[in-house]
Amino acid sequence: MMDLLGKPVADAIFEKQKPKIKEMLAGGVVPKIAVIRTMNDEPSVRYFNSIKKKFEKYGCECYAITKELQNTYDLKEELRRCSEDDSIHGVLVQRPLPKTVNVVDTLGVLSPQKDIEGLTPYNLAKLFTNKEFFTPCTAEAVIELLEYYGVEMESRRVVILGRSISVGKPLTLMFLNRNATVTVCHSRTEDISSITKEADILVSSVGVARFVKDYMVKKGSVIIDVGMNSKNGKLVGDVDYEEVKDIVSMITPVPGGVGPVTVAVLLKNLVKAVEMNIHD
Ligand SMILES: NC(=O)c1ccc[n+]([C@@H]2O[C@H](COP(=O)([O-])OP(=O)(O)OC[C@H]3O[C@@H](n4cnc5c(N)ncnc54)[C@H](OP(=O)(O)O)[C@@H]3O)[C@@H](O)[C@H]2O)c1
Repeated sequence: MMDLLGKPVADAIFEKQKPKIKEMLAGGVVPKIAVIRTMNDEPSVRYFNSIKKKFEKYGCECYAITKELQNTYDLKEELRRCSEDDSIHGVLVQRPLPKTVNVVDTLGVLSPQKDIEGLTPYNLAKLFTNKEFFTPCTAEAVIELLEYYGVEMESRRVVILGRSISVGKPLTLMFLNRNATVTVCHSRTEDISSITKEADILVSSVGVARFVKDYMVKKGSVIIDVGMNSKNGKLVGDVDYEEVKDIVSMITPVPGGVGPVTVAVLLKNLVKAVEMNIHD
C-alpha cells in the first residue's frame, strides 16, 4: 500500500508558480488574495494563518476582511466591494459561515475573474461544459493528487461520498470530464457499502470520522480521503485508515493528504487570476 502524500504534490504546484510570481513582482504587481472571515474560532484562525504564511512565503499578499456577517446581503456587499477593488485579484470566503448567510445566493455577485474558488455561475458553467477554468480548490486538489501519482481516471469506476457544492458535485463533473464512470452517494443512499465496494477510486467527503470501513472498499482500490474531522482532539479523516490500509493500493493520509494540495491550488488559481488581469 502506498500513501499518497500531499506535500510533494503541493510543492510541485508551488514551484511552478514561482517564476510567474517573480515576473509579476518585477512588473510591480503583487498577487493579492482577500479572505472574507466571519468566525474568530481557533480552527478558522489557524487555517487563515497557514494560508497567509504560505502565500507570503511565495511573495503574495493575503489580506483578511474580518466581518461579523449578519445575513446574505452583508456577504453580497463584501463580494461586491472586492469585485470593484482593483488591488484584489482573488477572493476566498472562509467557511463555516453563520447559518443566516446563504452562500449559494451570493455566488453570482463576485466577479468570475476573481472567483479563485470556482463557485460563481460562470465558472460552474465552464466546468459543466468541459471547459474547466477556475474549479473548486479541494475538488481540483483531488484531481491533482491522482494525476501526480499517475492514477488513471479514464474508464475507471469512481464513487464519491458526499454531494457538497465545493467538493462532491464539482468532482463528479471533473471525473466525467476525464471519462470516468461516476456514482455519487449521500445521506439518503441505501446500502452504501454495496456501491463503494465496486469503486476503483473512492473519494470520501462526508465529514464523519472513520466512516469508511474495511468491508466498504475494493481490494487494490485507490482511496482519497477529503474528510477533516476532529475526534478526541485529533484530526482524523472520513476513512478508517488502519482498517483499510492492507486492502487498498493507495490512500491519502489525514492529515497530510488532500489538505496541503488544496492550499497550493488556491495559490495557483490566484496566479491565474493575476495573469488574466494582466492580459485583459
Ligand atoms: N481537505 C480539504 O481541503 C477539505 C476541504 C473541504 C472540506 N473538507 C472536509 O470534508 C468533509 C466534508 O465537507 P464538505 O463541505 O464536502 O461536505 P458537507 O457540506 O459537510 O456535506 C457532507 C456530505 O456528506 C453527505 N453525508 C453526510 N453524512 C453521511 C452519511 N452518514 N452517509 C452518506 N453521506 C453522508 C451529506 O449528504 P446530504 O447531501 O444528503 O446531506 C453531504 O452531501 C468535512 O470533514 C470537511 O472538513 C476538507
